[in-house]
Amino acid sequence: MMTHTMLSPKITAQIDAICALAPVIPVLTFNTLEEALPIAEALLEGGLPVLEITLRTEVALASIQLLAERLPEAKIGAGTIATPAQYQQACDAGASFIVTPGSTCELLDTGVASSIPLLPGIQTVSEMMEGLQRGYQRFKFFPATVAGGTPALKAYGGPFPDVRFCPTGGIRLETAPEFLALGNVMCVGGSWLTPADLIAKGDWKGIRDIARDTVSRLRG
Ligand code: 3PG
Repeated sequence: MMTHTMLSPKITAQIDAICALAPVIPVLTFNTLEEALPIAEALLEGGLPVLEITLRTEVALASIQLLAERLPEAKIGAGTIATPAQYQQACDAGASFIVTPGSTCELLDTGVASSIPLLPGIQTVSEMMEGLQRGYQRFKFFPATVAGGTPALKAYGGPFPDVRFCPTGGIRLETAPEFLALGNVMCVGGSWLTPADLIAKGDWKGIRDIARDTVSRLRG
């Protein structure tokens, strides 16, 4: 039987602490470095201190570095991490946590060896079991809506009662409560907080208001 080096339980505790800070992790894809700080400040002011910056644009790593330096009270994570090299680049830029859309064995092993916590993405039970074999108990469930939504998460709770999820992908303010009502959901991720038209207009107050509204509606 293949044996794996196991994840430290401390990492699970760190992911739990991050995911307990807010009901939503905004998933942010910055197109310019200039927009990164005002958007992040608006979300923070609106009550959302945990941000996932995706590595989908040229300015992603510079944005992570800027926000990690300028907003020490926030948790700046890196998302769309698809290779161990990107994991390292994001850590070097100052990311507080790493999110992957899926789980390769290489990425799971990189997370075990890293002091920067990984929230690995899974869609299927088999992918989750690769993580469980290495001690992971917390996963991003992606793409949540098309991968079965809340019925899938309820079903996963049967054989895996200790596992907790951050569902992401297709979730909006209107559908977030049904996910957050599940006992095995820690928080959700989503991009609805930063509509492109508000960013184009530089309407940072509008983004702050969406964050405020989101927090008040999801926290009840
Ligand atoms: C992600 O990377 O997690 C998704 O792009 C976020 O999904 P959404 O845009 O449907 O909220």
